[in-house]
Amino acid sequence: MSDIQTLEREILAAISAARDEAALEAVRVAALGKKGAISELLKTLGGMSADERKEKGPTFNSLRDRIADALAARKAALADDALSAKLATERVDVTLPARPEPRGTIHPVSQVLDEMTAIFADLGFAIAEGPDVEYDDYNFTKLNIPPDHPARQMHDTFYVAPQADGSRHVLRTHTSPVQVRTMLSQKPPIRIISPGRTYRVDSDATHSAMFHQFEGLVIDEVTHLGNLKWVLEEFCKAFFEVDQVEIRARPSFFPFTEPSVEWDLRCDRSAPGKIVFGTGNDWLELAGSGMVHPRVLEMCGIDPEKYQGFAFGGGLDRLAMLKYGIPDIRPFFESDLRWLRHYGFAALDIPTLDGGLSR
Ligand code: PHE
Repeated sequence: MSDIQTLEREILAAISAARDEAALEAVRVAALGKKGAISELLKTLGGMSADERKEKGPTFNSLRDRIADALAARKAALADDALSAKLATERVDVTLPARPEPRGTIHPVSQVLDEMTAIFADLGFAIAEGPDVEYDDYNFTKLNIPPDHPARQMHDTFYVAPQADGSRHVLRTHTSPVQVRTMLSQKPPIRIISPGRTYRVDSDATHSAMFHQFEGLVIDEVTHLGNLKWVLEEFCKAFFEVDQVEIRARPSFFPFTEPSVEWDLRCDRSAPGKIVFGTGNDWLELAGSGMVHPRVLEMCGIDPEKYQGFAFGGGLDRLAMLKYGIPDIRPFFESDLRWLRHYGFAALDIPTLDGGLSR
């Protein structure tokens, strides 16, 4: 066998042995590269006599063409293999049954929030919102709680690291700063309800460091405690889904209201594990409230000679616990699907006043 035939065999064997493109490229360089075996062979043509060149020229050239063809064919085959391997790993068996995804339900807090929104929207209130991280000024000072006021101690505040100018932000301890934001940005008449997250350094069976409150604010030229009582009664009837309720007022103190009133709701807790609203000899705390303090109106740019108003606020989680008989607040925020399936609500049952709040 001639040297040329041996060379061709060796190169063809190396081409079919190449397992990937890099190996194939090495074979190509060794054969057809600048210093490759076949290139070297072609270079010898230059030193040959005319007759010799006529004889060897076609032989060498056709060898080079065959090798080039073999390289191209192998390269295409390798690319096909790579694609097939990739497709094989990405194959999806569309006949497999669907994976059982864990299915959640509407959280009682979301449910109560939607119920409350439906009720107050019907009474002509708009929904207002504010941030969880609040200015100290809005959470306290503009609510008539100046820096050294003892009421600050009652709030067990989470403070955020001071700003460059020394001012502090807080995690809002109540939804009342939304009153401030609303009065600073709107002209009376104002009627808003503002449910949202609040934070205090406090945690046990009925307190969680993060909890929810609702806030109501009405500012107009003629408003009084009688309006406030009516609004709370209407809310309680709709919310607890009873025809009649009775609420009682207790004198109280909040720096941002004067006078301040706390409201209790008459209920019957004589049957174990059950509460009936509207009758009975027990009272449940419902909300704090009062007439907005003239100083607060003033600090928020509203003329206290012309306008006055009332505000109320309380615990949203507490309302959920009362209405749906949930004894402990902590699991509200534990993301336990078993708890959620027990107390949660169907996603498509949107609470409406005419369709029924909770069915
Ligand atoms: N912000 C008060 C609290 O957290 C509740 C309240 C709201 C009282 C509005 C009066 C008026 O206890």
